[in-house]
Amino acid sequence: MCTACGAEAPAWTGRCSACEGWATVEEQATEAVSRQTVSAATVPLDSFSGGGSVPLPTGVDEVDRVLGGGLVPGSVTLISGEPGIGKSTLTLQVALSVAASGSSVVLVTGEEAPTQVAARAARLGPMSDTLVVLDHTEVETITDVFANDKPQLVVVDSVQTLRAQGLDAAPGSVSQVRESAGRLVAMAKRHQVTVLLVGHVTKDGSLAGPRLLEHVVDTVLSFDGDRASELRFLRSAKHRFGPTTEVGLFEMSGGGLSAVADPSQRFLADRPAGASGSVVVPVLDGHRPVLVELQALVASCRDQPASVVANGIPASRLKLVLAVLEQRAGQSMTGQDIFASIAGGGRTDDPGLDLALALALWSSRADQPLGDNVVACGEVGLTGELRAPVQLERRLQEAYRMGFRRAIVPSSTGGGPTGLELVRCASLPEAVRRASDRQLQAA
Ligand code: TYD
Ligand code: MG
Repeated sequence: MCTACGAEAPAWTGRCSACEGWATVEEQATEAVSRQTVSAATVPLDSFSGGGSVPLPTGVDEVDRVLGGGLVPGSVTLISGEPGIGKSTLTLQVALSVAASGSSVVLVTGEEAPTQVAARAARLGPMSDTLVVLDHTEVETITDVFANDKPQLVVVDSVQTLRAQGLDAAPGSVSQVRESAGRLVAMAKRHQVTVLLVGHVTKDGSLAGPRLLEHVVDTVLSFDGDRASELRFLRSAKHRFGPTTEVGLFEMSGGGLSAVADPSQRFLADRPAGASGSVVVPVLDGHRPVLVELQALVASCRDQPASVVANGIPASRLKLVLAVLEQRAGQSMTGQDIFASIAGGGRTDDPGLDLALALALWSSRADQPLGDNVVACGEVGLTGELRAPVQLERRLQEAYRMGFRRAIVPSSTGGGPTGLELVRCASLPEAVRRASDRQLQAA
């Protein structure tokens, strides 16, 4: 528009064709048009409230615990894990359980033949006729089922077998996985169908799959564990509808996956009596306190450089505790091979394990066991001070429940259950001094 005479100009021009003024034409229309478009498309946020975000329980308790109650209708959840870890077993158990409650479930079996799936299902539980199988891998065939049958749950095993119409890339390739999953998610949202999507990851985490899809789906669960042990962990890496702190604990057996009913008992089952280098610590597994046995071994170094190996705990925590032990408590382990692990295949990054780790290292080096009914719990600061971890009182209650009667804790600890003696220490050097007390060891 010309700012001098107000005449419209179809495009910017140096001179107005109406009044012939120079440099008077300016672009103005766009803002007005776009503002009008936006206000026409807006809807009060309030009008969406009350929509179905209430999770529906799957009936597999550990899955429901991790999801904060169950699967949210119309949501897409990715379960990722290494091949052979048990993803198909877990999702089949979820499918059987949801179908048993009368809901319609479609199982898309791209990975395995329906006869194989049926044979496995027969071992896992009773089958109901609301569970149907779709032996197809084309995304459009699957999404037609969304539209026509409106199933309550669709399990797709796996995303790496999917093919999107009109895309030549091989199934499992980056472009095929991204496009297929994108179309599937869009249609799940449109038809309000709940989808459980299985995705394989390789050990180094590099794959055309879960990493690629994290931003596309609502929830990402990872299923992992040491394949040599039967223990499996279900964790949430992303969850649009709740916290990601809860951990599901399963055991794989001939009859499929079952919940670990008493995790503390499971982790302490094979604990040796009177062993040096072993300290029990109550850690938080989501909201639930669980006792685990921290084991350390400090041994003469065989090959230079010395090894520092952490299993089930972050290597960075082990290195930090070693440095504080050396600098603040005069316990140098330089030049020794050092191993630290959670016994029984457990895994945690709870900072409340620092003190137990330090004491296990000291105990192994000094070859002095702590008493069998002693636990230790506390965070270790860089100056060697001890700090109370979150929910210390609940952790101490769990220790008492499991038969422990003495706890080495930071001096700021409020209280513990009656019957559990608290050995309060302000610093790591003080804790090491108290741990070497023969009376405490005899407890
Ligand atoms: P699977 O669910 O096929 O793993 P994924 O889908 O992640 O590749 O599980 C594979 C392993 O689980 C296999 O080694 C056999 C074992 N398994 C059991 O031990 N018990 C069972 O009841 C089932 C079904 C499987
Ligand atoms: Mg599988």
